[in-house]
This record gives sequence, structure tokens and C-alpha cells, in this order.
Amino acid sequence: MPLVRGFHDSNGDGTGDLRGITEKLDYLEWLGVDCLWLLPFYSSPLKDGGYDISDFFTVLPDYGTVGDAVELLEEAHRRGIRVIVDFVMNHSSSEHPWFRDSASGAGSRYRDFYVWSATDQGWKQPWGGNTGTWHEKNGAFYYGVFWSGMPDLDYRTTAVREAMLRIAAKWLEAGVDGFRLDATRYLIETGAGGGQQDTPETHDFLKELSAHVRRIKPDAVLVGENWADSPVIAKYYGSTAAVSAGDELPMSFDFPLAERILAAVRSGNAAGIAAKLEDVQRLYPPGAHDAPFLTNHDQVRLSTQLGRDQGMLRSAAAVLLTVPGAPFVYYGEEVGIQNGTTNNDEAKRTPMPWNAGAGGGFTSGTPWWSFAPGRETENVATQTVDDGSLLSRYRKLIRARKASTAFRRPGLQLLSPASGTTATLAFLRADGDEKVLVVHNLTSGFVPAGPYNLSATSFETLFADPGVIGPSGGPGSWSVNLGPRGTGIFRLR
Ligand code: NOJ
Repeated sequence: MPLVRGFHDSNGDGTGDLRGITEKLDYLEWLGVDCLWLLPFYSSPLKDGGYDISDFFTVLPDYGTVGDAVELLEEAHRRGIRVIVDFVMNHSSSEHPWFRDSASGAGSRYRDFYVWSATDQGWKQPWGGNTGTWHEKNGAFYYGVFWSGMPDLDYRTTAVREAMLRIAAKWLEAGVDGFRLDATRYLIETGAGGGQQDTPETHDFLKELSAHVRRIKPDAVLVGENWADSPVIAKYYGSTAAVSAGDELPMSFDFPLAERILAAVRSGNAAGIAAKLEDVQRLYPPGAHDAPFLTNHDQVRLSTQLGRDQGMLRSAAAVLLTVPGAPFVYYGEEVGIQNGTTNNDEAKRTPMPWNAGAGGGFTSGTPWWSFAPGRETENVATQTVDDGSLLSRYRKLIRARKASTAFRRPGLQLLSPASGTTATLAFLRADGDEKVLVVHNLTSGFVPAGPYNLSATSFETLFADPGVIGPSGGPGSWSVNLGPRGTGIFRLR
């Protein structure tokens, strides 16, 4: 998931751009990436990293043109890489012409594109805290759940729904393969508190959007940002009865699982991950696909959160790339990039370190923001030629995933070792008769995993860290010895 501004600068102005991403598609293909999520690249005053959009149809000139976007899509498709783009539906920028007109007075033809009230209704942000959500303008108040610069669109207005569906159609027709849907929980609000998120009206509109997208591109990807607990996320899939991927959103980012993975690799106790994977199987509709990830552009960089502990980073990567669902890797996570030194969003979104040289291979000019510390080793060039690097590990794990269709199927079977240890996480992934055993040691000691009651007579190794021994034993009782932070992936025979 590259941030356009942060990935690669093609024209030396110091800012990443769409052509820059096109130039790096060979790297992404080499790594094994088969789908890209592009963070917002639309026209925007950039007061919230581009999530404040002033024209949904055009590209921010710093990033290029619609033609550059189409070229990127074509070049990606040529390499078998799909591209999904951020679709920010909840709000626009306060600088969007719709809002400027809407705010001009009660008589504006765009008045009901936004949510207006004669008074401040006093609602706070639904995720807690004391920040208000009604903002004064020209003697009236408008609702903006994030802040005053991003007024919420009013989906009770037919013209808004139609306009947003048109925007989705336009980008699909331009060649995008789907959308990452921003802030989906907050689309339609009906009252203070509980009425500001997850309302039935929001679910209804998402079903309408999803049907619209399916009509235009039946295999389009939709992945929702529902930053919530598993039972809430589960509802965003809708039903898998008539539409196999779910008739609402076919995927949602698994924020609770990300938290559990980080906690488990820190503590060396896998129980939290196992419990969360069980929750997902129990709560999500049958056949639903998860969207696991470790961190994103709103969170402090993984490496910094894990104290730059290489073992923890290695475990986190291995878990991410083996659990059910389509794993998302935030750009730079694959080389262990640290957070920048400031205390703002830019520090989570610093330029990609392609090499250790002056412009870092990112730009021939001056980068728009300083590189994160640690670039001497946390860069692509250095780690590409080091077989033991984090980058090499990502690449090998992605290759192992692709070696078995079992990794494409939802669900897993957790395996509990007879010893009851929580140091290991073990499970089977399956696609019919194709079965794969995955074992992770989340500690920095040597751990015997198993024995597991598996009927296999032998195994084919798809991935094994140095120090992994086995599986040994025999049908009905297989064990694997794992070195520190070791992972093994084996096809059952
Ligand atoms: C979630 C995005 O990831 C975040 O960066 C943004 O600030 C909010 N949604 C509002 O669009």
C-alpha cells in the first residue's frame, strides 16, 4: 500500500508521484505483490494527507495527471498487479466547490449535500474524547465528524448518493480494480453517540454501492476501513448467501488482529492471535475473506512500535503472510523502516528508502520530508542482496504463499499442541485436499512444536527458517523443532 507522496519521485521535485510508482512496478512484481492500494491522489488542499478532497475526478498536480494514473493501471495490469484506490466517501474538503456553494446560504442548490443545522447539536466524536463535530459557518452549523475542514456529505440526499456512485463508476471505467473505502462506519448519522456510527442506513448504502460496483466490475475488490471490534466488522460483510464474498463489503481491515499480532510478537505468547482467529471464524459469515495487516499510514511505524527488534519484525511478517485473508503490507514495512522523528502523520509516511545514497533513490532533488532514521541498512538496495534480510524474508514468505492455493481460501484449523505451550502458533490451511501446515515460534528460544495429530505420511517444505527441524514423527504424531522466531510452512503429502 504505497503513499503516492512517499514512494518514488519521477521528476526530481522531491515529491513522490504516480509515474514514480509506475517506475517501481518491477520492484513490486519482484517482491511478489499482486495488488496495490494507492492512498488518495486526488486534488486536495492536503490538510489531511489528501483525505480532504476538493475534486474527486482529478489528480493532484504534484502527483501527475489522470493520464499518468491510467498508465500506472495499464503497466500494473501488464505485470498481473491489480490496483485499488482510496475512495473517500464520508466527506469532502471544505474547499470542494460543493461545500463552498452549500455554505453560501440556505438557498444553495448544494445545501443538502451536507448536514446543516441551525444550532450546534453538541455531538462529540463517536470514538471518544471531547471534540465537537458541529462547525459554524455563515450563521449555521454543519456536521464534520473528523474536523471542520472535512464536512460530512449527506447520504440522505439522492443527488449525493448518485454523485458518489458516479465517481466510483468513473474510476472503475478508468481501469481501477476496486476501492479501499475510507471511514465507512461514519457515512450516515442519525443522532448523537451510537447514531454516529454503524447505523442501519450506512449498511444499506454500502450494499447499494457494492451492488453498483459489482454491476460495473464483478470481480472488483472493496475493502472497508471499519476500525472497530470483530463483531462490528463482521456485520460489514453482509450476507455471503447470495453473493459469495458478501453482499456488503467483501473485505474489511482486521484492526483487532493487527493489535493481537503486535502484542503476541512482543510477549512471545501466541494465545491472543489464536483467540482472534477463532473469533473471525465464528463471527464472520461463512466464506468471508479477512484483510490482515500490521500497521497503516495512521499508525506509528511497526519497527518503532517493536523497538526495532529484528526478531519481532520477522515473526510479525511471518504471521501476517500466513493467516487467512489478503495481507496488506504498508510500504517500507518490508525493510523495517522506522517512524520519522516528529510527532505527526508525516513521520508515519516518510519517503521510501530505496538506497543509502543522498536522495535515497527516492528523488534526484530534495525529499519533501526527511527520511526516517536507520536508512543506512533499512533500505531496499542493501536488503535485496542480503539473503538474511527482512526484505528477503518477505519475498520468500510471499513466494511460499503463492506455492499453495490453500493460502487463497478463507479459514484455518488451529492446532493445539499436546504440551499446551503458547510459545507457538500452529494451524492448517486447506483448499480441498491441498493442505499446508504452518508453525511459528514467537519466542527467542528454541521450542518444540507439536506433536500434532496429522494423517500426512510426509511433507514438502515451502518455507523454513534456518534452525527449523522436521516435521518428524509419523502419521498421527508430527512435531517440528523451531529455532528462535522460526517459522516453517509444509505441504502435507
Ligand atoms: C482514515 C484515513 O486512513 C485517515 O488518514 C484519515 O485522516 C481519515 N480516515 C479521514 O479521512
